Amino acid sequence: MTDIRTILRSASHALGDRLEAELLLAHTLGVNRAWFFAHADDALPASEETRFAEFVARRVKGEPVAYITGRRDFWSLPLEVTPATLIPRPETELLVELALARLPEGGRLLDLGTGSGAIALAIAKERPDATVHALDASEAALVVAQRNARALGLRVSFFHGDWFAPVAGERYDIVVSNPPYIEDADEHLEQGDLRFEPRSALSSGTDGLDDIRRIVTGAPAHLTNEGWLLFEHGYNQGAVSRALFDASPWKESFTARDLEDRDRVTGAQLSPR
Ligand SMILES: C[S@@+](CC[C@H](N)C(=O)[O-])C[C@H]1O[C@@H](n2cnc3c(N)ncnc32)[C@H](O)[C@@H]1O
Repeated sequence: MTDIRTILRSASHALGDRLEAELLLAHTLGVNRAWFFAHADDALPASEETRFAEFVARRVKGEPVAYITGRRDFWSLPLEVTPATLIPRPETELLVELALARLPEGGRLLDLGTGSGAIALAIAKERPDATVHALDASEAALVVAQRNARALGLRVSFFHGDWFAPVAGERYDIVVSNPPYIEDADEHLEQGDLRFEPRSALSSGTDGLDDIRRIVTGAPAHLTNEGWLLFEHGYNQGAVSRALFDASPWKESFTARDLEDRDRVTGAQLSPR
């Protein structure tokens, strides 16, 4: 039997990452990472050591930690994730902040392409007064999103289908989306975590903008007077995204930058009718 300090040291070395080693060991033992401080000298039972070694081996082969543990935190919410859902990214929290700043009291919000439910659930958590709808084309992702809502005790209505089709006739004060926006031929799709994530959550045509164009075109029919559309995009898609709003019925568009100072979210408000 080996003690936890030694096991963590050798796994950190194998993974080149101490945090990942701790996350995988915490998952193996069903504890949180703080537990290690008081238990560094404890011996790990052989069965746990074997299970941990299997998790480390999967990570060494490239599988994302979040798919091995089945968890990822987003906006302080512990979310279940599976290979049917994108792993929520910290930069998407910018979209949540921008939406919260614009959502009126008792307002209605739609999250297009909800995946694990990350954006919709973060907004429902902060704004219990709001009506939050969320949809996805992937039934498997929606199952996970619904489980997350239940586990967190948050009220979000989920719909299945292609962009605005499941919410025909509905209008919202804000429509948000983190849609697929990577170019189909982008070599990054074959690298790192992206290799393991659903292609349907990632890529969108030759310039990566097919879904964004559909969302911008469909949004006016689903927004209230002076409602907002806000969507995430690639760091090099800010100008081209703003250009999609050039024609009426939109007021001037803006692009917000993420913590790494890269263009990340573009939005615009509907002109008054
Ligand atoms: C980049 S992921 C975002 C997931 C989640 N909102 C997040 O930020 O973690 C894009 C999501 O859009 C969904 N999607 C792709 N095409 C769609 C379509 N035509 N209609 C509805 N959802 C779609 C995918 O299944 C995926 O869950």
